[in-house]
Amino acid sequence: MECATNKHYLLFLFCLMFFSPLVLCQLNYRFYDATCPNLSSIVRSNVWSAISNETRMAASLLRLHFHDCFVNGCDGSVLLDDTSAFKGEKSANPNKNSARGFEVIDTIKSALEKACPSTVSCADIVTLAAREAVYVSGGPFWPVPLGRRDGRTANETEANNLPSPFEPLQNIIDKFINKGLDINDVVTLSGAHTFGFAQCFTFKSRLFNFGGSAGKSDPTMDTSLVQSLQKLCPNQNDSDTKLVPLDPATTNRFDNMYYRNLVSNSGLLQSDQALMSDNRTTTLVLNYSKYPFLFLRDFALSMEKMGRIGVLTGQEGEIRKNCRVLN
Ligand code: HEM
Ligand SMILES: *[C@@H]1O[C@H](CO)[C@@H](O)[C@H](O)[C@H]1NC(C)=O
Ligand SMILES: *[C@@H]1O[C@H](CO)[C@@H](O)[C@H](O)[C@H]1NC(C)=O
Ligand SMILES: *[C@@H]1O[C@H](CO)[C@@H](O)[C@H](O)[C@H]1NC(C)=O
Ligand SMILES: *[C@@H]1O[C@H](CO)[C@@H](O)[C@H](O)[C@H]1NC(C)=O
Ligand SMILES: *[C@@H]1O[C@H](CO)[C@@H](O)[C@H](O)[C@H]1NC(C)=O
Ligand SMILES: *[C@@H]1O[C@H](CO)[C@@H](O)[C@H](O)[C@H]1NC(C)=O
Repeated sequence: MECATNKHYLLFLFCLMFFSPLVLCQLNYRFYDATCPNLSSIVRSNVWSAISNETRMAASLLRLHFHDCFVNGCDGSVLLDDTSAFKGEKSANPNKNSARGFEVIDTIKSALEKACPSTVSCADIVTLAAREAVYVSGGPFWPVPLGRRDGRTANETEANNLPSPFEPLQNIIDKFINKGLDINDVVTLSGAHTFGFAQCFTFKSRLFNFGGSAGKSDPTMDTSLVQSLQKLCPNQNDSDTKLVPLDPATTNRFDNMYYRNLVSNSGLLQSDQALMSDNRTTTLVLNYSKYPFLFLRDFALSMEKMGRIGVLTGQEGEIRKNCRVLN
């Protein structure tokens, strides 16, 4: 009973006939079928128009979901604005001047508040938006279990601890394992870097004074890529925030090119190329580079796993009315 709100009472009785009551405390593929039947089409149309206005938004929405799930679970915490009384996650290093897509989530939320007020969580909106963004970009489609509730807290410290492109692969693997994911998920989900952009400072150390020796570049980076990146990101501070595509070959397409790039020593981030130099991850990189459909299938499976990290369900948390502020 704990997990059924009054509003869902009839649905609850209905479900009771078919499922164990425990199911109601878990995510469920038909969670909003009765309470917000147009949910998917509302999310889909808004994500489509955001991406047709700006192609990069697809990548940004996917990354937003990752940054949400890895901090306090997939609870919409990344969406909360800072106030004088409340410190959110937006000013943490991995998000500051980097995480984007908040306005798209706001637009979807307002449309949903009109169609089905106080029903759909911001955490579920981010999850669905990420799914649509991948699909629109040529990636896989997968069913998304729903019923996440929005958190009442955020954690800037934890957001500062998101995987960094400067840390050793082993640290990144440990961070994934801490969230209940595994080493294969690191390889599979990193495939998200098949679209979107990175600022020069996130990989510049590979171009000019690698390992502290002036004039040296990262030996695991293809030399012609080094040269072209040196032009795009000159060795001066004012190039730090310039944007470069993570996958220059098929910049906006969600495909397996990320892995083909790694095989030809053309990963952009050091943490990307590292997947090629660790004997626990190389085989899967090679498999994905050869079998695009294997990657697309596995990506969908890993996304569902990521979407279940630390979720709030039942009566936990709340359904925010505005994704930027607590009710
Ligand atoms: C494995 C550890 C990861 C590291 C170290 C990492 C690091 C980064 C960095 C440094 C950027 C560029 C940010 C900027 O310059 O502002 C970036 C962009 C991006 N990341 Fe990751 N990331 C990781 C995993 C993931 C995962 C799991 C996903 C999603 C499933 C993801 C999706 C993206 C996307 C789509 C972009 C482009 C965003 C845009 O253009 O707005 N990343 N990542
Ligand atoms: C759902 O959306 C369709 C069109 O997308 C619309 O015709 C219909 O009226 C909507 N239904 C509700 C209950 O909002
Ligand atoms: C369209 O994209 C631009 C950035 O390219 C952004 O500044 C603008 O707000 C977007 N407009 C809409 C309606 O989303
Ligand atoms: C944030 O997370 C850190 C590390 O997990 C934890 O030590 C700290 O207590 C959390 N802070 C808040 C305000 O929840
Ligand atoms: C460039 O950036 C580095 C590191 O952020 C800083 O130490 C240095 O003072 C900056 N140089 C200039 C000329 O601003
Ligand atoms: C994998 O690499 C590690 C360290 O680089 C090495 O100790 C280990 O023997 C290797 N394992 C296999 C199966 O090659
Ligand atoms: C890669 O593919 C080969 C052959 O299809 C298979 O035997 C192997 O288990 C795969 N390895 C991984 C890590 O997926």
